[in-house]
Amino acid sequence: MRLRIPAPFDPHVHLRDLDWSHKGTVASETAAALAGGYTALLDMPNTPPATTSPAALDAKRGRFQKTARCDWGLWFGAAQPGNQECYGDVQHRVCGLKIYNNETTGDLLIEDQELRDRIFAAWPTGKPLAVHAEGDTVADILQLVRRYRKHVHFCHISSARELGLLADAREEGLPLSIGVCPHHLFLTRDDLRALGPLGLMKPELKTAMDRDALRQALASGLVDVVESDHAPHTLAEKLSDEPAHGVPGLETTLPLLGQAAHEGWLEPDRIVELVSTSPRRLFGYPVPADSWTELDLKDRQVLDDGGLRTLCGWSPFSGMRVHGVVRQVTLRGKQVFDGEQVCAAPGSGLPLTQCIPRVDA
Ligand code: DOR
Ligand code: ZN
Repeated sequence: MRLRIPAPFDPHVHLRDLDWSHKGTVASETAAALAGGYTALLDMPNTPPATTSPAALDAKRGRFQKTARCDWGLWFGAAQPGNQECYGDVQHRVCGLKIYNNETTGDLLIEDQELRDRIFAAWPTGKPLAVHAEGDTVADILQLVRRYRKHVHFCHISSARELGLLADAREEGLPLSIGVCPHHLFLTRDDLRALGPLGLMKPELKTAMDRDALRQALASGLVDVVESDHAPHTLAEKLSDEPAHGVPGLETTLPLLGQAAHEGWLEPDRIVELVSTSPRRLFGYPVPADSWTELDLKDRQVLDDGGLRTLCGWSPFSGMRVHGVVRQVTLRGKQVFDGEQVCAAPGSGLPLTQCIPRVDA
């Protein structure tokens, strides 16, 4: 069976470039996106120079305009000691504001709840906020959602406990959405023995019980979005004394979701919602009629490093046998991936036009 997915959309990737072009470039990582079946993505702000000022935003926009092969939008980043004065200026050029509330790659950590409060107050209503929040921090952020009633997307939720807090908050009617990542759905901390530093990311891998809770929340509809959190680092950086956190994911996410369907814990219709219709509604990007991807749910492949387009050239899923092969990708009426070759030129990707995001189902 071939599943036709309208214009797959990944709202959470780190394409690097600029100061971190050795890890990935917009050209290389958008080729990876197309080969992985995605026609559009939203890039995160933590890669240096962090996207936390109008000048840094313009520099990043320049790279995307010249070299992106798929369609794109950019997250702005909240920064210490507070960059609220430029929110009015940048809001029309970005998809939303990302706030890092726990330690991760880069230096955008905001731990002070009063500063978080001022940031929430300053960000314009109608453009989503996205948060990195783990464990108890989820409850801290929920206080602010309750106070300001602005749409907050909780990125890469990874534990049963966090899901419980968010399920209660949704019951309460708070305007929130929930994303989960393929690595938390397919790997657990038991895999660290085999993966070593290649299994390190933030949030970290959890227990099998947490993984199963995520799978169930995906099927039940509590989780809104599957996001790859594509975060390439070189193999040398991963294998160093201080391994970098993060794993690539753009080329493996759709095949893994095909495997989830094969294993019977995810319906094909849910895949379409999780990687297309739901994130597009939540972040305000209508589903275009002339772009789609065919995911073969019957055919099998062994994921391996050799076939990857991502500049980092490795994957934590290498060696896994999955039922799920991306057969072709059409972007704005033109076939840009035929199952083997990516044939979209750098610069052919367009900035996405954002409409009004809707957090209600
Ligand atoms: O593991 C991670 N890596 N988690 C993040 O939140 C950021 C990412 C990165 O940029 O490397
Ligand atoms: Zn991320």
